Amino acid sequence: MTSVEPSSSGQPFGSKVTVYVVACWIFAAFGGLMFGYDIGISGGVTSMDDFLKKFFPAIYERKLHAKENNYCKYDDQMLQLFTSSLYLAALVASFGASKACNVLGRKPTISLASVLFTLGAVVSGTAPNKVLLIIGRILFGIGVGFGNESVPLFLSEVAPMQHRGAVNILFQLFVTIGILIANLVNYAVSSIHPNGWRIALGLAGVPAIFLFMGSLIITETPSSLIERGKEIEGKEALKKIRGVDDVESELEQIKLACEISRQVKHPYKKLFKRASMPPLIIGISIQVFQQFTGINAIMFYAPVLFQTVGFKGNGSLLSAVITGVVNVLSTLVSIVAVDRVGRRKLLLQACVQMFISMVAIGSILLIHLKPTGSLDKGLAAVVVVLVCMFVMSFAWSWGPMGWLIPSETFPLETRTAGFAFAVSANMFFTFVIAQAFLSMLCNMRAYIFFFFALWILIMGLFVVFLLPETKGVPIDSMTERVWKKHPVWRKFMGKEVVKNYEMT
Ligand code: BGC
Repeated sequence: MTSVEPSSSGQPFGSKVTVYVVACWIFAAFGGLMFGYDIGISGGVTSMDDFLKKFFPAIYERKLHAKENNYCKYDDQMLQLFTSSLYLAALVASFGASKACNVLGRKPTISLASVLFTLGAVVSGTAPNKVLLIIGRILFGIGVGFGNESVPLFLSEVAPMQHRGAVNILFQLFVTIGILIANLVNYAVSSIHPNGWRIALGLAGVPAIFLFMGSLIITETPSSLIERGKEIEGKEALKKIRGVDDVESELEQIKLACEISRQVKHPYKKLFKRASMPPLIIGISIQVFQQFTGINAIMFYAPVLFQTVGFKGNGSLLSAVITGVVNVLSTLVSIVAVDRVGRRKLLLQACVQMFISMVAIGSILLIHLKPTGSLDKGLAAVVVVLVCMFVMSFAWSWGPMGWLIPSETFPLETRTAGFAFAVSANMFFTFVIAQAFLSMLCNMRAYIFFFFALWILIMGLFVVFLLPETKGVPIDSMTERVWKKHPVWRKFMGKEVVKNYEMT
């Protein structure tokens, strides 16, 4: 497939989608599989009796006498810390990863991510006590921080502009596949006693090993090479990822971006200048809102949630597998749609669908689920359908856009630093939700779903008034073509400011 894309100056430059190019996209996207596997495995493992008996015996006892309260049976700070410690580690690691991306390049940072994650799998899978269990999780977290910083950036930088949305969303597609595989693994190992949970945690090493092998095959991005002074290698890399020999005009554009970037000695200082605020505010907000959709309340705790509404043991894991399949299939919709209908429309449509689902789930639980006892079968099935409607809309919108938009809106000089803030905002609020959800469920009961519905309303308004469309804009022309044209954000980009911006 050959296509032509316009540069920011309107000059077209060509590209061809070759086998090698596609292989680079797919190998890098394995970083998403690591992340997704972990998201999916935690909820299942923390509801396995063998795991609870070994590390959290008090919770196991409470679970046996679950009659006491439907909403509170799993509320335990240590159990929550097990799930969420990974995200704190990833938060801190994403800043180290930003530095590694600048100094070493995107490709070695991806390799590092896979090595750290593999170590995490070994330590977690063999952990004899709680301390090593948490250390394993921290290693997982550092791996996730490195992977989530480098992979989306890599994908956005190597993608031809007209397919950038779709290529970047391969990361999210692999996240959803990881979650699904983890749900299946949970389901399969739940009957292996007493070490099923060890298999579940240890298998996390498999996607990491794939990523490691892939990281040896992929090319470094041309921007990263040229920014680090390796012009000849940069040109070669560009030829490889474009599948054509004539790359002069695109090369010029990258060189220009690198030229500006090299003059910036302190990317973080620059990031807090007024003219850098628009992409920074958007990048962070998109990620914060992504978490306040409530997706991880559903993802981490789907098995717990389904047990709460009355599915027992394997039935609840099976329901989580169903949401996993919906998640993967709906992400495919986004891959097809994102470069056609654009980012904004997908986000807005999803806000409506997610709002309706959350309000409906909250209402059913409020009216029909008493603190003890369970929902009747029919209503429990309706809750599963509503959860699927919610996951579906998230999967073609806030899920992928959370990674796509922040990775494509920063200029090169603040790209890795700005994206690190977006990644860490994601990790921080994933941590907050993971840490707080079980307590919130216990205290707020069904009202927790109304809480998320309110946030969904707020993020819808945010998109309407503040989010510019980035579809079809070359990655190095965002300032001119997006921020300077937006009715609100252009005020940040006044002449004076822009001048400073270009010289700082
Ligand atoms: C989010 C995760 C979420 C996943 C669900 C990702 O984009 O960052 O927090 O669990 O999507 O598919």
